[in-house]
Amino acid sequence: MSGLVRFGVSLEKSLLDRFDDLIREKQYTNRSEALRDLIRRELVQREWQEGKEVAGAITLMYDHHKRDVMSRVTDTQHEFQKVIISTQHIHLDHHNCLEIVAARGNAEEVQKLTDALRSIKGVRHATLSMSSTGREIE
Ligand code: NI
Repeated sequence: MSGLVRFGVSLEKSLLDRFDDLIREKQYTNRSEALRDLIRRELVQREWQEGKEVAGAITLMYDHHKRDVMSRVTDTQHEFQKVIISTQHIHLDHHNCLEIVAARGNAEEVQKLTDALRSIKGVRHATLSMSSTGREIE
């Protein structure tokens, strides 16, 4: 971290109390750490909204016995191979597969990929964990 800057923040006592509760709950070491995290999260959110270069992970859950589900998941990933870095497939049990797709690229494309995977019949659950390359967020 380069060039640390201190600044004062004024807020209502009740709000600060709730913030401190949150800090304890999330096990932050201090208020600065918690505030930095909140700010970064907002900035990541903005990068996604602005369609910038982002990184994220899509987690999928499906039953591989369901008709065509595996080939559809594969077809969709080939369509979006430009933004996919890697895919990990885990056979959870006799029926269920967990797939984690690491993606990087244009935010809109990564979101489209997530929506396309989620809409495949047989995919029970699909979540996108939005992160960022962090180039502008350090
Ligand atoms: Ni499997």
